[in-house]
Order: sequence, then C-alpha cells, then structure tokens
Amino acid sequence: MLKKIMAANWKMYKTRDDASRTARELVVAVGDKLPDDREVLLIPPFTALYGVSEMLAGQTGYFLGGQNFYPEQEGAYTGEISPQQLTDCGCSFALVGHSERRHVLGERDDFLAEKVLYGLNSNLKIILCIGETIEERKQGLVEQVLLGQLEKGLARAGQVKAENFIIAYEPVWAIGTGETAGPEDIAQAHDLIRSWLEPNQQEGKDIRILYGGSVKPDNCATIISLDNVDGVLVGGASLKADSFSKIVTA
Ligand code: 13P
Repeated sequence: MLKKIMAANWKMYKTRDDASRTARELVVAVGDKLPDDREVLLIPPFTALYGVSEMLAGQTGYFLGGQNFYPEQEGAYTGEISPQQLTDCGCSFALVGHSERRHVLGERDDFLAEKVLYGLNSNLKIILCIGETIEERKQGLVEQVLLGQLEKGLARAGQVKAENFIIAYEPVWAIGTGETAGPEDIAQAHDLIRSWLEPNQQEGKDIRILYGGSVKPDNCATIISLDNVDGVLVGGASLKADSFSKIVTA
C-alpha cells in the first residue's frame, strides 16, 4: 500500500526565510505524530526550494516538490525551470497542470501530456491536477471534463507506475474560495477517476488520488477517510505550520 500524501502547495507565497522557518516549525509541530501511512510533501516557490530542502535534510517522511517545470533538460527558455534543476534542489515530486497553470497561464492538455512524460522520464513523481469549473459542473459535464483531462494528460506517457504518478482532483470552484466540495461530491469524483484508472492503467488500483480545494484542519479528517482519497493538496491552510500540522495529523 503506497502512503497517503499530505501536500502543501505554497503557490507564489513566502520568501526564502519564511519558507524555511515554516518548514522547520512544521517538523517541530508534527513531531512524532506523523502516522506511518502518510508522507508530507512541501511544494514551495522555486526561490525557496533549496533552503527548504536543507531544512528537511534527514527528516523521514518529508519530501519536496516543484510547482511546475518545462519539458526540456536545458535551453533558451527564459523564465522556465527544468526537471533537472528541480531535482538538483532536492525535489522528488512536481505538479503538472494545476488549475492556475491551466486557467491563468493557459497551459493546454497536449503540453501537459508532454510534461507528464518528460517529468516521469526525469525521475520526478508527477502529480497531475484535474478539475472542473463551476460552469462545467452546472452543465453536468464533470465526468466528461475529468476523464478528458485524465486521458489527455496521460496520452504521451501511456502506462505509468503507481509509485510515480499521482492524480490531484481539485474542483476549480473550491480552490481558494473557502467552499469545499462536500464529501459526496468528492467521493463521487474520486470513484469516477478510479473507475477510469482501473481498466486503463495496469497499476490503476494503486495510483493515488489526492483531493484539493479549501482543505482545512476541521474538514481534513472527513475528507481523508473517504474511499479512494489517498491524500490532500492544500493551498491557503498550508501556509502556517500550526494549521498544516493539524491537517497532516488529522
Ligand atoms: P486552497 O487550499 O487555498 O483552496 O488551494 C487549493 C490548491 O490549489 C492546492 O493546489
């Protein structure tokens, strides 16, 4: 059984000092209360990666991830970062296709499919983020959108190892809004994703599916106990060690 992933996406928040301090406070606050079946993943902005990796050195159960990368080893790609540069800073995970990359930066499914393949081939564990907008939900398109994003995201990588490929279901309308999807909505979406994975991926029953969108200390225990929820991807409530430590141990 692969471990549940309790992930903190710090987005474009925190200076180096603040990020390292929060990482240290988190390790102290969690102490020896990290359940054996969970791992913690910190995903700070690029500028803070190296400092946080030094802070986490020697800590069992803590991992570092990048929020994004460009699918080339190096080259004239101003403003981009490569998987090799992420691993050089201590990352073993990376997000692909976060809703803010899709909707604010305009990243498209075919580009994301290339990143999934390239990232996996570069020794990164890839977390592919999928999720519907509120308009799509109102139009009854949840299944079509989620399975479409999943199929297109995996189009280049083909069969993947469960250990290295993770899905994060993040309904766009629940991100940063304080509006969490209800347990039934989450369970339904995760069951749907699992029912696609099992026939389409050899290791589909073991691929972890995280939930993200207004996860807080007071709703985490309910969410994490649902079938087919294999962890959480937390934004706002992960910025402070006090609240994220409660989520990690919920
Ligand atoms: P919030 O937890 O702030 O809703 O953000 C969720 C998210 O986007 C994590 O990647």
